[in-house]
Amino acid sequence: MLGMKVAQERAQEAKQYLIAHDLLDKRYHLAREKGSVIFPVVREFTGPFEFDVEFVEADLAEQERHGSLRDALAPTLSEMERERLISSYDIVGSIAIIEVEDELLPKAQLIAQALMRVNPGVKTVLRKVGGHEGERRTQRMELLAGEDTRIATVVESGVRLRVHVEEAYYSVRMSTERLRIAKMARTGERILCMFSGVGPYPIVLSKNTQASEIVGIEINPIAHELAVENVAANRCTNVHVLLGDAHEVVPRLASEGRVFDRITMPLPHTAHEFLEEAAGVSCPGTVIHYYSFRHEREFELAPSVLRAALEHAGKKLDSYALVRAGQHAPRIWRVCVDGVVG
Ligand SMILES: C[S@@+](CC[C@H](N)C(=O)[O-])C[C@H]1O[C@@H](n2cnc3c(N)ncnc32)[C@H](O)[C@@H]1O
Repeated sequence: MLGMKVAQERAQEAKQYLIAHDLLDKRYHLAREKGSVIFPVVREFTGPFEFDVEFVEADLAEQERHGSLRDALAPTLSEMERERLISSYDIVGSIAIIEVEDELLPKAQLIAQALMRVNPGVKTVLRKVGGHEGERRTQRMELLAGEDTRIATVVESGVRLRVHVEEAYYSVRMSTERLRIAKMARTGERILCMFSGVGPYPIVLSKNTQASEIVGIEINPIAHELAVENVAANRCTNVHVLLGDAHEVVPRLASEGRVFDRITMPLPHTAHEFLEEAAGVSCPGTVIHYYSFRHEREFELAPSVLRAALEHAGKKLDSYALVRAGQHAPRIWRVCVDGVVG
């Protein structure tokens, strides 16, 4: 049967991806061998992984059958409805978060029960009510099945994070992007993570780089409290998270003479409003990771915005790479400009 082999330290991340995309073949147990984990998978695919994945012929033990979500939903949903649902749900630790279209609302409970049946690790199923809103980018959720909680623990790139899925922004879908940034960091870097939320950027960077110091800034006190807890739980001694508005905190750091070698700005709706502050704590060679949502037709506007902000601050954009960091809507992408200050 078909197996997907990954290094032991990437196993949690790979598993979350396989579950979220209904690619895990739940009829079989996984196997461990010499620092690797082999997952049973239903087919070969091209994943967004930043680590090595090998598809192998494997002899894996059978387990008690739970079935696939696609099969479990067959009596409830049409083929097209199943496809849409499967591509739009996330598993965050023991919480499954689903998006249910209005016309499927009467079937929401049945969908939630099917999800729990095929994912024994899922203890709570929540439905997204609306999108990410306001400055804190939080999202309202409604309980569909299981335990009534909004707190979960997720594992990402070797770190454990406690998250509150309703009161603080956290997206499992950004884990590959965070690791991409970590791979770029050089030894001894000073890194500023604006908009640090519950801490995924600073903590993943701390655990996966040789950075000397990482500063996080977050305005949402609930997210910040979780970040403080997560920093301590992961023993990240080089991370300091600060509660406050980046518009005020970053200029304060600048006034203390602080500069950073790398600055992450994962707030795609309004990150451009903070570029002046970012420029103020940059130096020649600083890499600014500036995120924005862009239609495919206008990707190039993103580096132009960064260039203009740096020039306005008397600096320049030396070079840049433009990276797609996930699709937001049809033909609209979250793009990241990895811009080097000249
Ligand atoms: C899209 S979320 C990203 C959170 C986190 N970096 C992650 O990847 O999970 C953006 C975060 O920026 C925070 N935020 C918004 N405006 C802010 C500001 N002026 N200063 C500091 N943080 C801010 C929000 O509360 C939210 O947690």
